[in-house]
Amino acid sequence: MVQTGWFETVAEAQRRASKRLPKSVYSALLAGSERGVTLDDNLAAFGEIGFAPHVAGLSDKRDQSTTVMGQSISLPVIISPTGVQAVNPDGEVAVARAAAARGTVIGLSSFASKPIEDVVAANPQTFFQTYWMGDRETMIRRLDRARAAGAVGLIATLDWSFSQGRDWGSPAIPEKMNLRAMMRFAPEAITRPQWLYDFAKTGRIPDLTTPNLTEPGTAAPTFFGAYGEWMQTPLPTWEDVEWLREQWGGPFMLKGVCRVDDARRAVDAGCTAISVSNHGGNNLDGTPAPIRVLPAIAEAVGDEIEIVLDGGIRRGSDVVKAVALGARAVMIGRAYLWGLAAGGQAGVENVLDILRGGIDSALMGLGHSTIHDLSPADLVLSPGFARALGVASE
Ligand SMILES: Cc1cc2nc3c(=O)[nH]c(=O)nc-3n(C[C@H](O)[C@H](O)[C@H](O)COP(=O)(O)O)c2cc1C
Repeated sequence: MVQTGWFETVAEAQRRASKRLPKSVYSALLAGSERGVTLDDNLAAFGEIGFAPHVAGLSDKRDQSTTVMGQSISLPVIISPTGVQAVNPDGEVAVARAAAARGTVIGLSSFASKPIEDVVAANPQTFFQTYWMGDRETMIRRLDRARAAGAVGLIATLDWSFSQGRDWGSPAIPEKMNLRAMMRFAPEAITRPQWLYDFAKTGRIPDLTTPNLTEPGTAAPTFFGAYGEWMQTPLPTWEDVEWLREQWGGPFMLKGVCRVDDARRAVDAGCTAISVSNHGGNNLDGTPAPIRVLPAIAEAVGDEIEIVLDGGIRRGSDVVKAVALGARAVMIGRAYLWGLAAGGQAGVENVLDILRGGIDSALMGLGHSTIHDLSPADLVLSPGFARALGVASE
């Protein structure tokens, strides 16, 4: 029997997602690459960090609010863009509503299943995410559309090297959801009646297209069509990053940085923010967890650029660890996808509430009244935990 309603941890949301989603959809969210070393390290590294709590003199009031790229948010957690289709019929609109209800930003993937106009209507605090794909005119047209829709920031994701073969196998995703694909997909969907029912109620099937990569109202490219365009685009230079930032002309985040030298170049390119990230373990396997590379990056450029971290956040205490090591906020990926699968908009709100509650507990135990007082002194770090990548002397 599929459960509905409140869940107490992100791990429970994931269990419910695995029961509710067809196997191929669930494994598309699990993702990862090659051996899964990075995927595992993203989670394990948080477990290696301890806390140094106080016992009395604690604060009764604790404030989590902050800003990211000019947006006020009520907790230091924002929604990371994920180009995932078919999790829930309301997709990114449900996520946007949940983020708005909890006072935070949604990052909308350019591979998302819902038009940006609908997402901004649900949450005016929307950052649009783009890859370096297509020719310059096409990129400008896509930025123009996002700007006209009301996106308040751009996330440029560059950490992708098209190496996503997995030792545990990848799900077969159809090019298009037509009758043939549905017949092939039917045996696994039939074992997930709640998921099937959610889509059946809307009278629609997951169509696996990318509506934000074209003009509003025109036929959207398929997911794989868009992927092909991306693969064929010559790779960007640092001058291209600067060009993209100039074309956007507003708050601009470079996502996927894990080296100090790249963080410096992002500062030089005029970026507003970087996300220290390895694409949730989906890029080069063997890249260390973002939380390991954060301290060196924060030390080098923390005063010059906003630093966000994403990868492996599953509980409020993870958020607190990242903020203590120099992140302004974190972005979450799978955590909200599990929530979306488990309970739609309410499930995403549930995940944000879990994180907020966990942040509050940790702040209380550490004796702080605001997240801005967190520092490495609150943590127990083993020697050798951190990795300084791209530092000249090494
Ligand atoms: C299934 C899946 C799809 C993703 N799609 C995108 C995307 O379209 N654009 C992007 O910038 N990042 C994408 N990401 C990366 C996330 O934004 C984020 O960096 C990552 O999920 C963080 O790790 P976490 O899942 O452990 O929180 C994706 C991640 C997953 C798991």
